Amino acid sequence: MHIAKKIRSIPPSATLAVNAKAQELTAQGKKIISLAVGEPDFPTPEHVRQAAKDALDEGFTRYTPVPGIPALRKTVAGYFAGIAGQDELPAEATMICNGGKHALYNLFQALLEPGDSVLIPAPYWVSYPPMVLLAEGKPTIIPSTPERRFLITPEDLERHAPQGARVLLLNSPSNPTGCHYSQDELDALIGWALERDIFVISDEIYDQLVYPPARPSSAVSWWVKFPDKVAVVNGLSKSMAMTGWRIGYVLAHPDLIKAMVRIQGQSTSNVCSITQKAALAALTGPMDSLREMRVAFQRRRDLALEKIASWPGVVCPKPDGAFYLFPRLDALFTKDRNDSAALCTYILERAGVALVPGVAFGDDRCVRFSYALDDETLVTALDLVRNALLDA
Ligand SMILES: Cc1ncc(COP(=O)(O)O)c(C=O)c1O
Repeated sequence: MHIAKKIRSIPPSATLAVNAKAQELTAQGKKIISLAVGEPDFPTPEHVRQAAKDALDEGFTRYTPVPGIPALRKTVAGYFAGIAGQDELPAEATMICNGGKHALYNLFQALLEPGDSVLIPAPYWVSYPPMVLLAEGKPTIIPSTPERRFLITPEDLERHAPQGARVLLLNSPSNPTGCHYSQDELDALIGWALERDIFVISDEIYDQLVYPPARPSSAVSWWVKFPDKVAVVNGLSKSMAMTGWRIGYVLAHPDLIKAMVRIQGQSTSNVCSITQKAALAALTGPMDSLREMRVAFQRRRDLALEKIASWPGVVCPKPDGAFYLFPRLDALFTKDRNDSAALCTYILERAGVALVPGVAFGDDRCVRFSYALDDETLVTALDLVRNALLDA
């Protein structure tokens, strides 16, 4: 079977091995706790589900405009306007996509020429480099360290960026680290890029999951000043616990939106009509569920951090957002488990806890722990991991 070269160049998922092993152990009747999840454990809010049921009953089940129903685009524009302290932003500068992932995919397809370099700070979300490769771009990884909370500075960019880099991709709060740039830190990175005519994509999918005293930061104000140099991606997967609904959106120059609409129009067309109605309810209705979820995640972050940071030799920056911890665990490597994948396999077999190896995110010294599960199970899982690592 011939498979196209550009697909063959996409690396297989580094999480597959751990997942396959977890399934094998579950099939053998072993109890596995997963701290590998990338989605909230909360239900989609009631009023959002109701809006979807109403859409179905009203027969709102046909094609919609490719970039989304006008009311939703207007609401999304209003969301972005609110962040930038503007009265309004144009709906033509927004587009509704099948998840934040699809918004990013469309952006790379629309922006990149073959060989264009995209600066990606590591640790990075697993899908960034493959998406860039699929658009025939070249991922350029900018390393960071847990000692500096995995945040990069303009000096790091200066040191590692090749001449003529095309795009800087930022993600705050970050998957996998949960670390978050303050507005000043973000401004410094964006300022550096724009001075060099480098386009900025800011993935702000976790913007509603930032824990006080930290405050959300955003590139939207930069978009207002430089609409042809910046794009902002967001969505409802994380903030409204809507991962399965597939709803993401983007703020970009109307010409770039038109290009993305052409791509989406020839691939997936509109996002599910029912989902769009649900999204409208999510963005305009009560926010109590989000507030409750944020409080729960902050409590779990503190619980998990206290435990992990007490393990000897472990460096674990305190994340300000999302629902992940990304400790550096190489102090606990041994001859038989001397990288993140081997360590995760060992933890899975010994402790029955599934984790994602840091290698999947570009840092083989670390492991990603998700705390998107109830407090009691979380504490049990962390004690099991600790015992497997330290009492071995
Ligand atoms: C950093 C980041 N960006 C984008 C996404 C995409 O989210 P979705 O496509 O589910 O909206 C995710 C999902 O895990 C993520 O972690």
